[in-house]
Amino acid sequence: MEARSLIFGFSSPSLHTQKPNITFLPALLPASTQSTTQSPKWVPLKPQFFLIPRISWAKKVSSIRAVESKSLHTHEIESSVDTQKKKKFAVFVSGGGSNFKAIHKATLQGSIQGEVVVLVTNKIDCGGAKYARDGGVPVILFPKPKNTDEGMSPEDLVAALRKYKVDFILLAGYLKLIPPALIQAYPRSILNIHPSLLPAFGGKGYYGRKVHKAVIASGARYSGPTIHYVDEEYDTGRILAQAVVPVLANDSADDLAARVLNEEHKLYVQVAAALCEERVVWREDGVPLIQSKDNPNLYL
Ligand code: GRF
Repeated sequence: MEARSLIFGFSSPSLHTQKPNITFLPALLPASTQSTTQSPKWVPLKPQFFLIPRISWAKKVSSIRAVESKSLHTHEIESSVDTQKKKKFAVFVSGGGSNFKAIHKATLQGSIQGEVVVLVTNKIDCGGAKYARDGGVPVILFPKPKNTDEGMSPEDLVAALRKYKVDFILLAGYLKLIPPALIQAYPRSILNIHPSLLPAFGGKGYYGRKVHKAVIASGARYSGPTIHYVDEEYDTGRILAQAVVPVLANDSADDLAARVLNEEHKLYVQVAAALCEERVVWREDGVPLIQSKDNPNLYL
């Protein structure tokens, strides 16, 4: 349970007899868990949500390209990013903000072709807010603390994010409810990071060290972060990306938290980069996928 909103939902996923061809990129897995196995039975789908008949591999590729109105081949991604406007992020934090810092640094270094234009926090003195102020990133207090005139209402927040021309909202350890008005204003544009492999160890009550304690107590041998779209429940939005770390025999919750957090930083940077390069595609059944930059036929 790391972020929640109340009213937004995706349309019901439809079931299909043919499944898309998903090849998980080994780069996100530790060497010990990497697999190069690909399912030959699954068929690639593109953003147009066509159901593509099973055909030979060479034919598959050319057929898919033929129906693409907007090709996302690697060189075209790269060249289009140069000319495109950078995407603008709002990052929401409540604590130290190490994910925010990783994302912000990557925007400055150019590995994310975007910029963090505003930081939103419910704790104006948290580490993330301090880092933002030091770096010249505007800070918004949300929600309004009780008995003060400071902070924004949900409507003011939406208006402010519009003013900053925010494209995507990245929740990074933000512990307050996401208001319905914000969910409605930013459909398919709000992401959260959770420190377990959802759908396991998520939902109400699963936050911070509690997640890692529960993972260790369960005997699970692997854990890792999940980045998912935010919907109306705790940690139930569509999964966009995951990374895997081992759970070691003598791990404390802090040991595991540190190992997972290290992967969080890399994963959130990769996801933010993919958002900027418009490499997120939605499978016909409503599952979002990240297209590999190097090979558009591979997906995270
Ligand atoms: C991370 O573990 C994240 O998964 C969770 O909150 C924590 C935030 O850490 N949602 P930080 O503030 O980014 O260091």
